[in-house]
Amino acid sequence: MFSVAAPHAKGKCAEDNIFAANNRAIALAEKIGNDQVVNGTVGSILDEDGNLVVLDVVKEALTKLSPKEICAYAPIQGYRKFLDDCIDQCFGESRPEGYIDACSTPGGTGVLHHVVHNYTEPGDEVLITDWHWGAYDSLIDDNNRRVRSFSFLTEEGHFNAPAFKEAVEDILKNQDNIVIILNGIANNPTGYCMSVAEWQKAVDILKDAVADGRKNAILVPDVAYLDYSGEKQECRKFFKVFGGLPKNILVVCAYTLSKGFTMYGQRMGAMIGISSDKDVIKEFVDINQYSSRATWSNCNSAAQNAMIHICEDPDKIRQLDEERARYFKLIQERASIFMKEAREEGVKFVPYISGFFITIPVTNSQAVCDDLEKQHVFLVPLKKGIRLAVCSISREKMKGLAHKLALAIKAAGARQ
Ligand SMILES: Cc1ncc(COP(=O)(O)O)c(C=O)c1O
Repeated sequence: MFSVAAPHAKGKCAEDNIFAANNRAIALAEKIGNDQVVNGTVGSILDEDGNLVVLDVVKEALTKLSPKEICAYAPIQGYRKFLDDCIDQCFGESRPEGYIDACSTPGGTGVLHHVVHNYTEPGDEVLITDWHWGAYDSLIDDNNRRVRSFSFLTEEGHFNAPAFKEAVEDILKNQDNIVIILNGIANNPTGYCMSVAEWQKAVDILKDAVADGRKNAILVPDVAYLDYSGEKQECRKFFKVFGGLPKNILVVCAYTLSKGFTMYGQRMGAMIGISSDKDVIKEFVDINQYSSRATWSNCNSAAQNAMIHICEDPDKIRQLDEERARYFKLIQERASIFMKEAREEGVKFVPYISGFFITIPVTNSQAVCDDLEKQHVFLVPLKKGIRLAVCSISREKMKGLAHKLALAIKAAGARQ
């Protein structure tokens, strides 16, 4: 193929198998009817009729915006009220001790881009879990960094602290900064949630690893699915663990409006930095704002203003919390149906606690998914398993799915 791309860009291609499977499911549903197709690929909440859920309080806030609120340039860092609202919404009653500030980003993706770009050097390894959202690989690779993963869960299904420690210590032998992206709350793709004690353990390991003060650790809790991970204040308690850390440990929360505010396509989020050192937070804002100027410039005004209007009205916040709680419950019910039937069918799944996805560990995942597609079931094959979107499959369609999976696993000669 004749190519004019620069060497670092040659051969790259963003063909996303999730969107591809989703497109096939939509095309089939148009042909044979929506009720005949199970589409478990979508990472957005769909209601029981298969329609995209947009929270009512968000819909109302968006439709009431003035043209100026929609169209004006926002400040590069983000509107101050928006940033403060993100900090409040993210931490709830569990705001960690320390200096805290934020920069607006296009979703959680923007946070991850800037953290990789600004806190590691080209060629460095970035640490992630073996079960992870596929976009992490591209976000790290496209910045000319390298993916390093550790085994997230032990055999018993808990946070694998020894594997984490080993990887952290090994990476720090070769580089001055370590960046760890830890989607430990309602993990995509497994639905695992680290307990407060497990987050504490992770932080303690980092403290030990950089105790001599010569190296730095940047921990990035990816909290994309936070608002559907449990009771509002209970599920936020782990944030307290990030307070009072040594100044060579910076925590950057990857906060997004995509899921919690169902504003996926509005591309809005914030990177929220926590440090015991004032200068580290000043630098955090300075360098990330600079990178924003050099990439996407400023972010979406409409989404920021919609959030500002919701958060300035206690009634609207109450409505927001109620709507989220309702969908959290719905997703839990869907997951329970699948897990009960999977146990009956002898289909194993990675311990699910909350979130948009359940993972079925299996070999030959592509063949299993191909077989399921023949039965009009669309799931996402991963390297070590299959991802099932409990956020988008109705309770009715969830029934019998574990049975179909059991048959497809057998037909593909796959092992669990
Ligand atoms: C684990 C995880 N982190 C972050 C994101 C960020 O998404 P967005 O950039 O839409 O906020 C997603 C979206 O699917 C995700 O699954």
